[in-house]
Amino acid sequence: MPDTSKRIYIFDTTLRDGEQSPGVSLNVEEKLKIAHQLARLGVDVIEAGFPIASPGDFEAVRAIAREVEGPVIAGLARINDRDIDRAWEALQEAKRPRIHVFIATSDIHLKHKLRMTREEVLAAVRQGVARAKSYCRDVEFSPEDASRSDIDFLCQVLAAAIASGATVLNIPDTVGYATPAEFGHLIAELRRRVPGIEQVQISVHCHNDLGLAVANSLAAIENGALQVEGAINGIGERAGNTALEELVMALYTRRDYYGCHTGIVTEEIYRTSKLVSSLTGMPVQYNKAIVGKNAFAHEAGIHQDGVLKERTTYEIMNPTMIGLVQSNIVLGKHSGRHALRSRLEELGFKLNEAELDKAFARFKELADRKKEISDRDLEAIVEHEVKQI
Ligand code: KIV
Ligand code: ZN
Repeated sequence: MPDTSKRIYIFDTTLRDGEQSPGVSLNVEEKLKIAHQLARLGVDVIEAGFPIASPGDFEAVRAIAREVEGPVIAGLARINDRDIDRAWEALQEAKRPRIHVFIATSDIHLKHKLRMTREEVLAAVRQGVARAKSYCRDVEFSPEDASRSDIDFLCQVLAAAIASGATVLNIPDTVGYATPAEFGHLIAELRRRVPGIEQVQISVHCHNDLGLAVANSLAAIENGALQVEGAINGIGERAGNTALEELVMALYTRRDYYGCHTGIVTEEIYRTSKLVSSLTGMPVQYNKAIVGKNAFAHEAGIHQDGVLKERTTYEIMNPTMIGLVQSNIVLGKHSGRHALRSRLEELGFKLNEAELDKAFARFKELADRKKEISDRDLEAIVEHEVKQI
């Protein structure tokens, strides 16, 4: 048995960064539904929203803080008094509240967006983290655009956040620019260089602009990060955030390699993905890992035959692990007799060899015209054609 004693904490930002996906807007009731499902999924932290952003966001954070038990409930705030006060107002009824404060640290953001000097940013971090701490024991600090920041300045800012009371330091790859080796190295360097960092939890928050968010998060875990932020179905700003279902299943499936476990109830993954997709109106791409329609579907005859003989020939995860009832054998023109017989048996048809020959011939004719053969088609073949012989 591999040693999986290291616990990785899952911070879900579907309702905050995920809701920042272009075109997505959830109302309070929808956010509550998702938050309850995230609690059933077993996430450790729910980032319920950005209370200063709008009255709707404020109400949603307040309702989730009141109602949803189990996970820590976090609210986002820029590092200024108004944002922090508003975040606390929304969070104060939570059993386990967390204020999440952020400010950018890269020169590009300081110069063009914040128009602040490094000294001013450092002072704001000291002041803002201390103010959040005066309300709440649990304070997370994020240096936005950390992966493009000067590392000496980043270390100074992080040390100031720790000294002012931060309990979690979250390192964002805000624009999805880092590569896995580079991001892993950044985490290792911060652990080596920032005074007091061993007293706090290191978290990472990766964006998927180059399709590397999950890989970068895994590299960070290998270098000591204990919390990973992400969203269900990988939704979020631009190309999205770390897809939590992918990260969790990578850690589980390769626990022999990573030596970690999470508190996620993996059987709730599929249900959660469906709920988020239907309430946000964002479809999940067919070939998306873990939760896509084709993720456990086998079309080629050789693959179908293999899976029917022994699932692990072509499946590295058991689909029941994510809450799917069974793997999805897609019947099409490449499917063989074995797959057809097996599906017909699942549908309740027991055919003799002659009947199966006839059904198979009709099935192949139809499959030349239709990409996927549905259960309805099979029933029609058997009931109207095969059983006539
Ligand atoms: O991407 C980012 O930097 C963020 C921060 C607010 C954590 O979403
Ligand atoms: Zn983000």
